[in-house]
Amino acid sequence: MEIIIRQEQGLDYQATEAVVKEAFRHVEQSDKTEHLLVNKIRKTDAFIPELSLVACLPDQTIIGHIMLSEIKIKYQSEETVSLALAPVSVLPAYQRKGVGSQLIYKAIKKAEQLGYLSIIVLGHEDYYPRFGFREAALWQIQPPFDVPQEAFMVLELREGALEKVQGVVEYSEAFS
Ligand SMILES: CC(C)(COP(=O)(O)OP(=O)(O)OC[C@H]1O[C@@H](n2cnc3c(N)ncnc32)[C@H](O)[C@@H]1OP(=O)(O)O)[C@@H](O)C(=O)NCCC(=O)NCCS
Repeated sequence: MEIIIRQEQGLDYQATEAVVKEAFRHVEQSDKTEHLLVNKIRKTDAFIPELSLVACLPDQTIIGHIMLSEIKIKYQSEETVSLALAPVSVLPAYQRKGVGSQLIYKAIKKAEQLGYLSIIVLGHEDYYPRFGFREAALWQIQPPFDVPQEAFMVLELREGALEKVQGVVEYSEAFS
């Protein structure tokens, strides 16, 4: 399927949020507020415009979206900047055609280019390992809330980048 992946622009915000809302409509584990999360993240310092990407059909219709935003890994007085992958959304009619994968690969590449060192995701353990994500527990990086260990994953963008990092992840205020 031919799609174009590009940075989200201000004029896309409404359409993006509609896509996010629709993508999560039938997801059991969802609280159906992911579109509001996207809206809130954009208003914080954690928002990186270059890491909010939309997938479009050739006629420019938006059918998917991904957002990576800044978070911190905190240990005592030490802080390490990382990114949260949340959320990633594809309209139900276009799922399982590789759109989600293209969005994730493109976002990873862009994050690397911007110099970020790691990405953290809370998600399905059958999905994210194909992109290189591994259990965060392998690095002594803990979630700030109770989640199944295998669902909390990390991707190093440079080998060994997290070797000396430990601590608890602190999400931006948009997540609270
Ligand atoms: C998750 C999502 C973004 C994937 O996008 P997509 O375009 O369907 O994904 P792709 O076509 O690239 O990949 C499809 C693969 O992902 C798997 N997959 C999709 N959603 C999955 C999920 N929630 N859990 C586990 N695997 C999932 C499919 O089983 C399929 O695997 P296969 O290739 O082995 O058959 C999309 O399904 C979606 O928007 N879901 C609703 C919102 C959501 O749950 N987002 C993720 C949580 S942040």
